[in-house]
Amino acid sequence: MSPSASDKQPRVLISAEDVQKRIAELAQAIENDYRDSENLVCVGILKGAVFFMVDLLKQIRLPLAVDFFQTSSYRSGQQPGEIRIRKDIEILIRDKDVLLIEDIVDTGYTLRTVLDLFRFRGAKSVRLCALLDKRERRQVDVEVDYSGFEIDDVFVVGYGLDYNEKFRNLDYIGVLDENPLG
Ligand code: IMP
Ligand code: MG
Repeated sequence: MSPSASDKQPRVLISAEDVQKRIAELAQAIENDYRDSENLVCVGILKGAVFFMVDLLKQIRLPLAVDFFQTSSYRSGQQPGEIRIRKDIEILIRDKDVLLIEDIVDTGYTLRTVLDLFRFRGAKSVRLCALLDKRERRQVDVEVDYSGFEIDDVFVVGYGLDYNEKFRNLDYIGVLDENPLG
């Protein structure tokens, strides 16, 4: 196989140690805020949020339910993609406190759509926890209630994030020095 940009080991942007430190802080904040909740449902957005979600939820000492949601977005030209549901949650969320867990918020279209849908279904509250926030890329208004790190407009991989399904299993957040998107 000939070497390509995606074969190189990504440069460290946020070390594994820093990721874990921040997750402990987020877990503490969430635990404090939801102490009185009677029905907390944590919904991870597949696939990228899985690594983050597991490490985060293991540190939250509250009863909670876990479910998953998956979207796909179809872009045509430069137009924003239409977000579609690939996998819906199984748990009924009416009158429950929903905490959405996502790897990264970029344009915001994905989360805007999911937040609106869950509120429409009658959730008591819907909040968002994202490990990474590319705020300057935002095109629609999405507030991140629990944000791990704000990052610049660079394409990142690792700790759940992929480039063509590669690099998800890195324990750190890395940058591919050659832009994979050209
Ligand atoms: P949004 O709808 O534009 O906010 O897209 C968010 C989704 O795009 C994330 O859940 C990721 O799957 C993907 N994404 C955005 N930026 C990156 C990145 O830098 N690396 C890997 N995936 C990304
Ligand atoms: Mg994602």
